[in-house]
Amino acid sequence: MIETPFASSTRSIPEVGAVPRHIAIIMDGNGRWARQRLMPRVAGHTRGVETVREVIRASMERGVSYLTLFAFSSENWRRPADEVSFLMQLFMRALQKEVDRLHKNGIRFRVIGDLSRFDAKLVDLIRSAEALTADNRALTLSVAANYGGRWDILQAVNRILARDPERREAITEEQLAAELAMNYAPEPDLFIRTGGEQRISNFLLWQLAYTELFFTDTLWPDFDANALDQAIAWYRQRERRFGRTSEQLQQHSADVSSAKPGEHA
Ligand code: IPE
Ligand code: IPE
Ligand code: MG
Repeated sequence: MIETPFASSTRSIPEVGAVPRHIAIIMDGNGRWARQRLMPRVAGHTRGVETVREVIRASMERGVSYLTLFAFSSENWRRPADEVSFLMQLFMRALQKEVDRLHKNGIRFRVIGDLSRFDAKLVDLIRSAEALTADNRALTLSVAANYGGRWDILQAVNRILARDPERREAITEEQLAAELAMNYAPEPDLFIRTGGEQRISNFLLWQLAYTELFFTDTLWPDFDANALDQAIAWYRQRERRFGRTSEQLQQHSADVSSAKPGEHA
């Protein structure tokens, strides 16, 4: 069983830099954006794809290494059938159109979620885009599609059990994390939800344990590079204590800055 090379926010203390290494976004508010303009809800989804392009570009420029976008939740099947099928078509068209550009820009593309309900054509497209871009490292772009945080934790546990049905030992945090759909990425440093709601909506339940949560009323089609910068600026003001006291953190940074070069505090 492989264990992830990334620090767990509950088992150790992750390193914190000025730029979030991993940003995870719930892209919400497309329908309301369209309704405000007396357009059908789906027009908001189409416009939202442009925001996706801009946010990918801006994230790369800012030095973010992992960007994860919630595109379709395991609960979004409850929407009207025509909206669901529009979203699937849009995803497929965007992927067909953008995959070469993603690859040229050195982006690794991954999809997390239960693909078993998707059209075979869409699944093929996803798998070939993932294979094409597998060795790229400028940015890892993960799209959560038919994703649910509860599904993710359960599939991880079930994979462990399926491999060893006789298993008696308790599952460790590291073993479970290694089986999550996003086992190739560190936990998000910054979470952003557009559209005004302040909830997680079954997104990355496990990984958001110590993530800084940023909520904005801006609707997704109106979100842009400038709004992303505002979220990052807000993130920089946070004191990420991971359970410790503020005094301990100040002591820690004093120790680090007084350590001789090459010596670790
Ligand atoms: C988010 O926008 C996109 C998806 C969930 C696919 P919404 O479609 O939820 O927009 P609102 O929340 O109705 O405005
Ligand atoms: C969350 O948005 C899922 C995505 C953005 C894909 P929703 O608009 O579906 O969330 P709820 O149902 O209002 O919480
Ligand atoms: Mg919504």
